[in-house]
Amino acid sequence: MNQDISTILYGKEQIQQEINRISAAISRDYEGKNPLLLCVLKGALIFLADIVRGVTIPMEIDFISISSYGSETVSSGKITERQKPLTNLKDRHIIIVEDIVDSGLSLQYLIEMIREDKPASIATCILLDKPEAHKTNIKIDYLGFSIGNDFVVGYGLDYAEKYRNLPFIGVLKEEIYS
Ligand code: PRP
Repeated sequence: MNQDISTILYGKEQIQQEINRISAAISRDYEGKNPLLLCVLKGALIFLADIVRGVTIPMEIDFISISSYGSETVSSGKITERQKPLTNLKDRHIIIVEDIVDSGLSLQYLIEMIREDKPASIATCILLDKPEAHKTNIKIDYLGFSIGNDFVVGYGLDYAEKYRNLPFIGVLKEEIYS
């Protein structure tokens, strides 16, 4: 797998540093609020697992599944819902945990969908943001890294379901997907 990566953007230590910062901020901001961290499958699974281990206040987790990419490398903007959270979101403090914001359309769709369930608040916790690719206004409350338009994989992010298990975030060689 490693031979398919052109550049390693962030290694284990760098990722862990940002995770620690975000976990501490969530612990501080949500004291006494029992937040629900809503992991957007599948990409955010590893990010969520690391974040929650640094959170020091009572909290809960749940999962939601949507898809916008299929096996494409550029966001199609076509979003489908696959799985709803099992938890009742009404009056809860929701933190959406996503691996990446590209066009921002998935996150916008998610926020609108969650809002219908009348939660107490909605915040966003994003590992990677691609500001140049945004097609909508997105407010990110907790962010790991801001990156350019490269196609990145690893640490939960895939290309055609592969590379999620890489322990770092790297740029996929163009020849792999072109
Ligand atoms: C990725 C990512 C976001 C979305 C971002 O999901 O997790 O949900 O694409 O793109 P956007 O900002 O352009 O909408 P993907 O469909 O690849 O599913 P996965 O997490 O299961 O890999």
